[in-house]
Amino acid sequence: MDFKPYIRTIPDHPKKGIQFRDVTTLFGHPRAFRAAVDALVQPYAGVQVDKIAGIEARGFILGGAVAHQLSTGFVPVRKKGKLPWKVLAEEYDLEYGTDKIEIHVDAVKAGDHVVVVDDLIATGGTAFAAIKLLERAGAKVIGCCFLVDLPDLGGADKIRALGMEVTTLVAFEGD
Ligand code: PRP
Ligand code: MG
Repeated sequence: MDFKPYIRTIPDHPKKGIQFRDVTTLFGHPRAFRAAVDALVQPYAGVQVDKIAGIEARGFILGGAVAHQLSTGFVPVRKKGKLPWKVLAEEYDLEYGTDKIEIHVDAVKAGDHVVVVDDLIATGGTAFAAIKLLERAGAKVIGCCFLVDLPDLGGADKIRALGMEVTTLVAFEGD
């Protein structure tokens, strides 16, 4: 299935010059949403996966569905200050400044096989921080899945360079 037509592009959002890729239109389409989740889990058929780590916010929507499909646990990777228990935190760069994401200290067990899920990878800063967090907690991150890749920004290749499997379903390149 070609997923691109189901993703809405909003020009100049949130600021001039940015083409915002809005995945809510795909999430709202029953066949496209199901097919996207099926395609994201496909590389993991028959592979040991203990937990899916979904990155707030849109990674929760896909990650929850992927975890259900693979019958794994789910780990929320949250923006700072949202989780109620003790956390591990990792800082990452934004266009201007930095932000933090967090997981609970006991979100994974040592040696757990984890797959990271988010809606989109751009620079890879967010996913990279999530991988570092999960590894600090003792997990083995075996792969990452994204609905949308912005290859011009190089994030997916940066993660692949770590020797990790990266699945992406749609690329918006030079447009
Ligand atoms: C967007 C997107 C990814 C991240 C990708 O999230 O949903 O999580 O940016 O960018 P990167 O690869 O350059 O790190 P955003 O930070 O806008 O937050 P949200 O998902 O909570 O809206
Ligand atoms: Mg996000």
